[in-house]
Amino acid sequence: MTAAALPMTDALLGTYKRAPMELVRADGVRLYDAEGKDYLDFAAGIAVNALGYNDAGVKQAMTEAMASGLVHTSNLFRTAPGEQLAEKLVAASFADRVFFCNSGAEANEGAFKIARRWAREVGGPAKHELISLRGAFHGRLFGTVAATDRPQYRNPFRPLAGGIHIHERDLTDLARVISDEQTAAVIAEPIQGEGGVRVLDSGFLRELRALTRERNVLLILDEIQCGYGRTGSFFAYEQYGIEPDLLTVAKPMAAGLPMGAILLTQRVADAVQPGDHGTTFGGGPFVAHVANHVFDRLSSPEMLAHVRREGEWLGDQLLALSARSAKVRSIRGRGLMWGVDVTDPAKDVVGRALAQGLILVGAGDHTLRLLPPLVMTRAELGEGLAKLEAAIG
Ligand SMILES: Cc1ncc(COP(=O)(O)O)c(C=O)c1O
Repeated sequence: MTAAALPMTDALLGTYKRAPMELVRADGVRLYDAEGKDYLDFAAGIAVNALGYNDAGVKQAMTEAMASGLVHTSNLFRTAPGEQLAEKLVAASFADRVFFCNSGAEANEGAFKIARRWAREVGGPAKHELISLRGAFHGRLFGTVAATDRPQYRNPFRPLAGGIHIHERDLTDLARVISDEQTAAVIAEPIQGEGGVRVLDSGFLRELRALTRERNVLLILDEIQCGYGRTGSFFAYEQYGIEPDLLTVAKPMAAGLPMGAILLTQRVADAVQPGDHGTTFGGGPFVAHVANHVFDRLSSPEMLAHVRREGEWLGDQLLALSARSAKVRSIRGRGLMWGVDVTDPAKDVVGRALAQGLILVGAGDHTLRLLPPLVMTRAELGEGLAKLEAAIG
């Protein structure tokens, strides 16, 4: 049976070019449209649906979360789920404190404010500059868009928020511009997602950590896309042998419910006073209950081993694909986060993949991004690879 066609609407603001089909249902790693066509998911709602769809554990957690009748209380009161999740994130990371919010961009905006708060405390008002890297994507809000390296996202909104500068991923250049007197923080994605799935070189990130430490500048890692198990360790930074001062996460935290978080050290937290920052919804009892379930699943050794094993296999298959297809220029990635550079425009390949029943996202004009749910099996990955190869042509 097919559902009635959804009439087109002009009521939504036209900020997205949406694919034409209407999605009506999802299960496991597949989505279904109103005409009954199924799509294998290599995008996970842009790295959000790590546990796939219609997951029994997530549904159970949502039911349990409803039992108390407390969906939202505001941050003026204590509730257990958020406090429990904060304890878990502290135990699993470099961090001593956690601030919950509702999205990736909101987490980064908060991290920028906290970095400035700390810098003002230790260095006075001149120490306020924030530095991001060539290729960065940190969000679409007012501060984060100034740290995002895409002219089409930035230019229509000039003048942008001040004191935020983008520099090359080059240590000589960075050593010239990072100063104890003026720089509050550097923000970096260990794997740049929207910027084309660019894995930061481990030597580069280690040197950047050493440089920022030496100059008394904070290092913020944006793990909104690459964190929470996607690269095969719970946080991507663990694979670099370094620790940041702040870290932001969001996308997969609450199985598709909006949630973000800022993790930070005590040294930074000491600068933050009651009233310095806030958010109405962040870390409410319903979303945080579900997020506890997601944390337990995604941080389990079995899940991380699955991501490493299947990610390695996926990487090998992509390498073989790039060797046999003249239309694949290069591949790069880690865990279940891969970029495939193609000769055709990425949007054309994404469209052909959709026709084949495969959901993909692009990352730049000629890069396809593979972000399957972390629970995807090898057989499902293989099925997606066959569709991918057909779509690449
Ligand atoms: C690395 C990174 N930072 C920040 C963001 C912004 O997150 P949100 O869209 O939840 O605001 C994204 C979203 O794609 C991201 O990939």
